[in-house]
Amino acid sequence: MELRVDPGVYEPAEDSQMILGAAMDYRPRSALELGTGCGLAAIALSKTGCQFVLATDVSIEAIRCAGNNARKYAPRLHLLLCDLFGGIDRRFDLVLFNPPYLPVEATAGEEVYWAGGPRGRLLIDRFICSVDHYLSEDGRALLLQSSLNELELSHQLAAEKGLQSTLISSRKFFFEELHVLELRQVG
Ligand SMILES: C[S@@+](CC[C@H](N)C(=O)[O-])C[C@H]1O[C@@H](n2cnc3c(N)ncnc32)[C@H](O)[C@@H]1O
Repeated sequence: MELRVDPGVYEPAEDSQMILGAAMDYRPRSALELGTGCGLAAIALSKTGCQFVLATDVSIEAIRCAGNNARKYAPRLHLLLCDLFGGIDRRFDLVLFNPPYLPVEATAGEEVYWAGGPRGRLLIDRFICSVDHYLSEDGRALLLQSSLNELELSHQLAAEKGLQSTLISSRKFFFEELHVLELRQVG
């Protein structure tokens, strides 16, 4: 599969491959990918048999790009331009998010891919605080984050929200370690 990545859209990198690899270990009937970029993980889930896949992004360039890629590889993929969970009103077996996580202040422009606010946790915290409303009874959420984002804070916040958080994969890179966290509702 050769996906086109248009100007202004995040070029898939190690983080994209890690969350994609983690997602492929599940067999969800429905999946939601937030911040889909060029659509890589959402298209892969749709192609491998997930019946209902919704891919979202806050960037119109990303939604157009993912739409063009989906036309070729996953025509049943649904797309939505929105901020995080805004406008989504159903639950999913699998929810994925590879958020902007670098600890820098976002301004207008391409920083939307990677700028996660002063501690890099702006989107991470918003995601953990809301994701339980979008998980089916036995649903799982996968969240990519970096050693730059104080992983322990995610475990604490998840526990406060009544979610069980498990580190399912980690890989060291030059200046950071990347982690995939699995979140699920307890009980
Ligand atoms: C690190 S990129 C990941 C792109 C793609 N999922 C991948 O793994 O290659 C983060 C994506 O999140 C999107 N994004 C940033 N803020 C967002 C928000 N508030 N709601 C939804 N998507 C957002 C960006 O436009 C970008 O496409």
